[in-house]
Amino acid sequence: MVKLTGNKKTRTVIFISGNGSNMKNLIKFSKMKNSPIVVDLVLSSNKKASGIKYLKKKKINFKIFNFKQKERDEKKILEILKKRKTQLICLAGFMKILSGDFVKKFNGKILNIHPSLLPKYKGLNTHKRVLINKENFSGCTVHIVNSKLDSGKIIMQKRVRVSKKDDPKSLSEKILKQEHLLYPKALKKLLSNH
Ligand code: GAR
Repeated sequence: MVKLTGNKKTRTVIFISGNGSNMKNLIKFSKMKNSPIVVDLVLSSNKKASGIKYLKKKKINFKIFNFKQKERDEKKILEILKKRKTQLICLAGFMKILSGDFVKKFNGKILNIHPSLLPKYKGLNTHKRVLINKENFSGCTVHIVNSKLDSGKIIMQKRVRVSKKDDPKSLSEKILKQEHLLYPKALKKLLSNH
């Protein structure tokens, strides 16, 4: 994994597909003095992602790739990342699955945040499945991306209590709040020299 050298911040690209609340949070975090990352670019798989409004307003570089021709798009993305000397990719609500080849080329340098306590509840509809199974706890996980879905090395997790009154919406809101705390913490853990 990329380590910080001297005072240099890790050049990071964020991948999104939707709301982008984790993206906004990471951008805010990157602007803090002690942040180990600088956000160089955001890539969205969805041209209608509401996170894009924020990027336009804040004049932050972004590009759109819909991944309909995955091989072609990934090749183009790799070229862009090489040009920009990208050191780290943060997936933040990115709902496409990157190919094994892409992951290999960025081996150990792609992070993801997932709204469950991995290895439990990989994949989609996590909150619904947690509620059906009457779990007392759920949470969120920041992990390194490998070629298997939601299976790479876990960097940090936060547990969240599931209440009997929770529905998928309330549970996702509770967990999202914790995601916004966890992702910056995990980045500090991974990238800081101290
Ligand atoms: C977050 O809960 C994130 O953990 C989840 O999508 C949501 C995106 O919210 N990601 C996944 O499920 C990835 N498989 P955001 O767009 O507001 O950051």
